[in-house]
Amino acid sequence: MDITKAIIPAAGLGTRFLPYTKAVPKEMLPLLNKPALQYIIEEGLASDIKQFYIITSRGKHAIEDYFDTNPCLEQMLKDRNKESSIASINKITRNAQFTYIRQSEPQGLGHAISLARHTIGKEYFGVFLPDDIIAGKQAGLAQLMRIARQEKASVIAVQEVPQDCVSSYGVIAVKKQITPNLFQVSHLVEKPDKKDAPSNLAIIGRYVLSHKIFPAIDDISSYATDEIQLTDGISQMMKHNEKVFAYKIQGTRYDIGNPIGWLKATIGFAMQDPNYAPHIRQYISELDTMQSFMYDNTKNIVHNV
Ligand code: UTP
Repeated sequence: MDITKAIIPAAGLGTRFLPYTKAVPKEMLPLLNKPALQYIIEEGLASDIKQFYIITSRGKHAIEDYFDTNPCLEQMLKDRNKESSIASINKITRNAQFTYIRQSEPQGLGHAISLARHTIGKEYFGVFLPDDIIAGKQAGLAQLMRIARQEKASVIAVQEVPQDCVSSYGVIAVKKQITPNLFQVSHLVEKPDKKDAPSNLAIIGRYVLSHKIFPAIDDISSYATDEIQLTDGISQMMKHNEKVFAYKIQGTRYDIGNPIGWLKATIGFAMQDPNYAPHIRQYISELDTMQSFMYDNTKNIVHNV
């Protein structure tokens, strides 16, 4: 089973990050010195994905510019012997192909994904939701691809969440547990009440899907009155006897779709990087009281990274 393509829906409004997202896509929020979307593309390349179909919308041009070459900048950095500062992005532009597809209105994640159907053919493909950043030894999507090949079926990433949080997620009902981390799914429930949740295994932003998702999304679109949800599309696909598995993805997941999650991710990545970690550790140890941080004008905060 060849899986070389991935769809990245990035056309949402990012209302939880307003006013920042009024002019800048949230996918371009920095995590240290790289935009969040670069971590997604790096995970894709580490999973052997070669073609990325990014669903964009009005005001998201920064994404296209970032993943394009910039000969003037490259020449200027070469002249100044500073080429290494853009080495990570140059590696991406050499190894990945990008196609941008416009979603004119945010009609839901299922709708966004269906816009890329003509690029997929009869293949399995990856989906990355760029709000979820997964850090770990093995690339997140590669873990799902291994299961998709083993089971010859679609696979969704899940993570155990506290019972109190289930109503913020799509949640799986388990048909059969195959290994400690692998489940066959019986059905999906979008944002259930805590008391109705069939499990605490929440769907997170990585999928490997069969092309059969597209007719399933068409089916639900014909009677949808609101946004077209991907979970409804997957449920519809299962009604046509398509097997779907869920895998407890290994690694640390950061939900950067809201300011607190983004802040945690920034600190988490900084603490893993020897260039930043000692500075952050020292800085946090100095924040002994709000008083000393907020109001001590005599305190000299050193920025020497
Ligand atoms: P979210 O609803 O979580 O993100 O969609 P959002 O709409 O961007 O942000 P908020 O909720 O207003 O703060 C999950 C993912 O699906 C994409 C989003 O860009 C995000 O990556 N999406 C969602 C689309 O591409 N199109 C849509 O119509 C809806």
